[in-house]
Amino acid sequence: MIDSFGRTIDYLRISVTDRCNLRCVYCMPDGFEDIGHDRVLSFEQIERVVRAAVVLGFRKFRLTGGEPLVRRGVVRLVEMLAAIPGVDELNMTSNGTLLEGMAAQLKKAGLTRVNISLDTLRADRFREITRGGDIEAAKRGIAAAEAAGLSPVRLNVVAMRGFNDDEILDFAAMTKEKPYDIRFIELMPIGKTGRSGFMPAHEIRAVLKGCEPLDDRRGVAEYIAYPGAPGRIGLISPISAHFCGGCNKIRLTSDGRIKTCLHSNSEEDMLPALRDRSDEALRRALGEIILRKEERHFIADGMAPIERGMYRIGG
Ligand code: 5AD
Ligand code: SF4
Repeated sequence: MIDSFGRTIDYLRISVTDRCNLRCVYCMPDGFEDIGHDRVLSFEQIERVVRAAVVLGFRKFRLTGGEPLVRRGVVRLVEMLAAIPGVDELNMTSNGTLLEGMAAQLKKAGLTRVNISLDTLRADRFREITRGGDIEAAKRGIAAAEAAGLSPVRLNVVAMRGFNDDEILDFAAMTKEKPYDIRFIELMPIGKTGRSGFMPAHEIRAVLKGCEPLDDRRGVAEYIAYPGAPGRIGLISPISAHFCGGCNKIRLTSDGRIKTCLHSNSEEDMLPALRDRSDEALRRALGEIILRKEERHFIADGMAPIERGMYRIGG
């Protein structure tokens, strides 16, 4: 499906719950607002949206949250979606803390890969940024993902000056030992972000002396690596070098709205189309929404952050 600006849109991120077992300060600055179980899409409704998206040409899907692994029965959802012909990739973004006991089942159900959010390697800082989380659980989750073949393991690190900027080299060093993708992400103003400390990607790059550029510009990350290292380092700069011109994605929130841009307040309710039993009507509604996808964001031009908190979008 091509949008109004000539971009191929083939990637859907699906938030399966707003709930999370952690409370990261930049994600849930004011704590958590519960939307209630009855407003969360059922697995069958999510499946219908994915089937409609596949007909429109979508090939890549990602389950997000909140924390997707707190949604009851999520392994069954993975199984349902992975079985749909045309779903070439089904990935997940998780905080990793519940992954240890589920990685093997998720792989078996058809999950392709998992991105794990980990902003620090230090137990005390992890406890601080997640408001009480246990870093050992996250580390066991990462090891379990690797052992289960949910690979390559990708770690997402939101870079924050004054919080983890002194750990950039520690994270980068992991790529010398492990075939991991370590991806540094610029902190974005989302909702009432309870954290300052924006650090542009070029400053992160400057710390990573000795890394060489890799000729891989798949997706939104620029990749570099230490010569001969098994792993890679990604730099994701949604703010300093907005990649809107190459954006291929839309998002489905857990309460059934389509967000065609992370940084726009506009949301389109899919529930009316989902109540209609016709798959054709659902496809048409989705197609029309995609044609209204925004051209770009205006964060660098001083636009105000969107209202919906990150835990209600899924990154
Ligand atoms: N800026 C950048 N990344 C964010 N994430 C959550 N909030 C923000 C933000 N304000 C990240 C999480 C996770 C992914 C879903 O999005 O750390 O890796
Ligand atoms: Fe949970 Fe992820 Fe938000 Fe942290 S960033 S509170 S792990 S949803």
